[in-house]
Amino acid sequence: MNPMTVALFSSQKYEQASFDTYLEDQATISITHFEQALTAQNTILCKGFDAVCVFVNDTVDETVIKQLDELGVKCILLRCAGFNNVDLAAAKAHNIKVCRVPAYSPEAVAEHCIALMLTLNRKTHKAYNRIREDNFDLNGLLGFNLFQKTIGIIGCGKIGLALVNILNGFGANVLVCDPYAEQGAYTLCELDTLLSQSDIISLHCPLNEQTHHLINEQAFAKMKPGVMLINTSRGALIDSKDCIKALKSKQLGYLGLDVYEQESELFFKDRRDEIMQDDVFSRLVSFPNVLVTGHQGFFTQEALNEIAQTTLQNAYEIANQSPLSNEVKL
Ligand code: NAI
Repeated sequence: MNPMTVALFSSQKYEQASFDTYLEDQATISITHFEQALTAQNTILCKGFDAVCVFVNDTVDETVIKQLDELGVKCILLRCAGFNNVDLAAAKAHNIKVCRVPAYSPEAVAEHCIALMLTLNRKTHKAYNRIREDNFDLNGLLGFNLFQKTIGIIGCGKIGLALVNILNGFGANVLVCDPYAEQGAYTLCELDTLLSQSDIISLHCPLNEQTHHLINEQAFAKMKPGVMLINTSRGALIDSKDCIKALKSKQLGYLGLDVYEQESELFFKDRRDEIMQDDVFSRLVSFPNVLVTGHQGFFTQEALNEIAQTTLQNAYEIANQSPLSNEVKL
């Protein structure tokens, strides 16, 4: 049997090692790594491949899927949990299977949320620079206890729940808004209650038509003045322009982002020699109470191992025509 050929896009050095480790049976699957993201302009690279393997910022819309079909590609292997960048209807229409990695260490993302919360709150990033310059002044570094603060989690699936467990350890009062969540070690409530009562709000719901710009001008108006907002889910959950207004009016007191609406134009590359074209992003990072990381919530060794293992398992299942454990369907 010929090996299943996979074109892996947006390939980074740090993940190639994990794939090499878990690619035990080289005779069954062969992977070619492409550094560039998949777009409608470069789908020709997929010619002769059975599968494409993509990450969060690759384009897998109707146009790309039609081209993939014409080139003979049979499946799309997502190296991530979210599938908002894939047109599932088009995939179905072209009989292209889509598989994902449903969870790769939810704890990795939950722990990164805590890093954002504590850094914004206790300003350790500023303290680090001050001490290096022999500046031992504490003015401007004042924080607050997480103990007994109200922390609202929007979307309590795998990552939200991992965060709830950590926050309960801090002695925080945890509110959850999730239409599908069951009772747990938190108080379930409606979105408006969560927005108006929380000292910190953290977003963990998927991006879809219902949740697009969930956090907009109206939502900010319902929040406590000086609230902290953390987004490690998907950028378009927040209306970035409304966010800037809320920061300028001080309604939003702290903002921690690991994701950004237009991140596909920016993230995962060294752009120091380029001129920043995104004025909204430039404005966001100019605020002293905003901390942005470049979609690194998942980025632990444990998660990289899980991504490689599950992606290869998905590929093996397709190659062997076995039942698919992680298929994404409409
Ligand atoms: P999950 O599917 O386990 O949980 C999502 C939860 O959101 C579910 O419980 C669902 O009921 C709930 N939900 C759906 N619609 C909602 C709404 N309108 N309001 C409130 N809750 C709603 O997903 P998981 O694994 O917890 O991931 C959450 C998100 O985190 C993913 O969609 C993905 O976009 C993002 N993510 C980010 C990573 C990063 O590196 N920053 C890594 C992995 C995932």
